[in-house]
Amino acid sequence: MKMKITGTGSALPRKVVTNTQLTEWMDTSDEWIRERTGIAERHLSTGETVASLAAEACRKALEQAGKTAEEVDMILLATCSPEYLLPCCACQVQQEIGAVNAVAFDINAACSGFLFGLTTANAYIQSGMYRNILIVGSEVLSKLMDWEDRSTCILFGDGAGAVLAEAVEDGESGLVDSVQRSDGSKGMVLSCRERMISNPLYKEAAERTNQESFYVQMDGQAVYRFATRQVPACIREVLEKTGLTVEDIDLFVLHQANVRIIEAVAKRLGADIGKFPMNLDRVGNMSSATIPVLLDELNREGRLHSGDRLVLSGFGAGLTYGSCILIW
Ligand code: UT7
Repeated sequence: MKMKITGTGSALPRKVVTNTQLTEWMDTSDEWIRERTGIAERHLSTGETVASLAAEACRKALEQAGKTAEEVDMILLATCSPEYLLPCCACQVQQEIGAVNAVAFDINAACSGFLFGLTTANAYIQSGMYRNILIVGSEVLSKLMDWEDRSTCILFGDGAGAVLAEAVEDGESGLVDSVQRSDGSKGMVLSCRERMISNPLYKEAAERTNQESFYVQMDGQAVYRFATRQVPACIREVLEKTGLTVEDIDLFVLHQANVRIIEAVAKRLGADIGKFPMNLDRVGNMSSATIPVLLDELNREGRLHSGDRLVLSGFGAGLTYGSCILIW
């Protein structure tokens, strides 16, 4: 059995915020943001939630695949910004779309979450355990931002993307192979604190309140160095595993963090930058949602053809990273 993507969908909040609008909130400029990141605007939530965006993306993916919600066996939802610690967001989506027969749970691997979800779904499908799996990346990162930290908040946006993956007989198309890695030793270069320990025995909160931010903290240059070194190495590894070369690949669908990172990866691989589609100028970095939103855009624009060889690659907090090869 192989896993094949048969439907894609995405959902973005209604409100678009341009770089120029950000200058009303902080000391920055359109020029600085465009030059350093490639981002021109992003969608920010004015009430849309991780669950509501995810549900909309799932409905669209199901519609395109010609499947009903009742046919879904599993929902894997990647997010690092859920509304609730419990229930998990995947269960909220199950309820919203009526996927009554699905088992549902969340994955948190930050910007690699969708890719790790895809490989998890692949393992379930290859084992014969499930046939129809929704894999979703959904984020409302704007609530995790310190809007006074101009070096971080300008990067991120809100949104969701989903794919329906089905079990198909072994053949040309589907997920071919993958590589996944984690490096917890560098976890603190991109972090966001949850609540402190507080119980009748121990009051971490009382001791540490005001000493630690509950917003995203990032060492931007460390993340940049990590991504530009590890992502090309990881892509080379998965290519070698499958006996393919950089030239054999039609499109490299990378996590949309920063145009400079994507250009550096292309350069290190010796690949044509024209093979690296980008939408981050319009949507910013949406963490786990970037790859499925971009895939959905490419799919709906007719830019994915049967037999195309794609590399998907995610990287981010954890630190986590991974790549896989898909034949469309
Ligand atoms: O999913 C992964 C998510 N993370 C990433 O993708 C982060 C990767 N890192 C980066 O993309 C870059 O490190 C950033 C875009 C975040 C920052 O670019 P940088 O070239 O590393 O800038 P920097 O932090 O070294 O700051 C350079 C200057 C500083 O001013 P001084 O000290 O040189 O006077 C900052 O205060 O730019 C200033 N600065 C800004 N200026 C205008 C920082 N943020 C801004 C801003 N607008 N928004």
